[in-house]
Amino acid sequence: MTVSLTFVDQIAHINLSRPKALNALSFQILSEFRDVLVQVEESEARALVITGEGDKAFCAGADIPELIGRPLMRELEGAQLGQEVFQALAQLKIPSVAVIHGYAFGGGLELALACTFRVATDHARMGLPEVKLGLIPGYGGTQRLPRLVGEGRALELVMSGRTVYAEEGERIGLVNKIDNEGSPLEIGMRFLQPMLKHSLCALYFAREAVQRGMQADITNGLRIERDLSTLAYRSDDASEGLQAFIDKRTPNFKDC
Ligand code: HXC
Repeated sequence: MTVSLTFVDQIAHINLSRPKALNALSFQILSEFRDVLVQVEESEARALVITGEGDKAFCAGADIPELIGRPLMRELEGAQLGQEVFQALAQLKIPSVAVIHGYAFGGGLELALACTFRVATDHARMGLPEVKLGLIPGYGGTQRLPRLVGEGRALELVMSGRTVYAEEGERIGLVNKIDNEGSPLEIGMRFLQPMLKHSLCALYFAREAVQRGMQADITNGLRIERDLSTLAYRSDDASEGLQAFIDKRTPNFKDC
């Protein structure tokens, strides 16, 4: 297996382990990743950390040799597989973070873009270099990058294919934070720590409100917020959270 899944405390950890090819996403890896996501979904995990094996790369993108000479319909299937797997990741009920501790290019950055959050180390080198190969991103990059950094920046990055270093990544909102302390897993766990004590339902409703609202105009976005905040208000966790405040105690959330 080149994609491993382990659990540390309440956190699921997916590690891409194909360091000799800088953890490039062969179709085999994509399929394994899809299967592992199902296991995460069925688990009790409250958050997910994704890392790549080795010092050099989070993930160098789609497996380039595999892309050579594929008939058009097979290629279409390939892009569809990548899109489906990353969409499943984006739609996980629990928050996810990609720890970018080296190269994250092409499909590797697209994987990170499908996570709820991205943390980079100083060694991070990110980009969508597909145009240099005569390609364009096909695993969600042209759609998720502009939603994160804005259309103008996304166009410049996709059309130049240039590399973004950690500091710029943080400045433009491509990564949430730079953190160099400890292993990639420790970095991911530390980032998620402040969220773990909250109700999973509240976290999910909040994320849905922001992310669905981003696809809508302001009127519809406000409707989405109103409906989801009402759902949150009706949850047992909201009753518990409000009562705990009155009682001056720590709430004991049950995740809905
Ligand atoms: C397969 C890869 C690979 C990849 C690197 N390797 N990237 N194998 N697919 N995407 C392999 C190399 O062939 C080499 O194997 C080993 O990993 C180490 O890579 P080097 O190039 O020797 O390392 P380095 O000089 O440090 O350069 C690192 C790098 C460079 C800058 C990341 O490898 C690189 O530019 N890789 C390609 C990045 C890229 O263009 N990604 C986008 C792919 S397209 P050997 O056996 O020689 O040691 C994509 C979207 C497709 O992702 C969407 C389709 C629908």
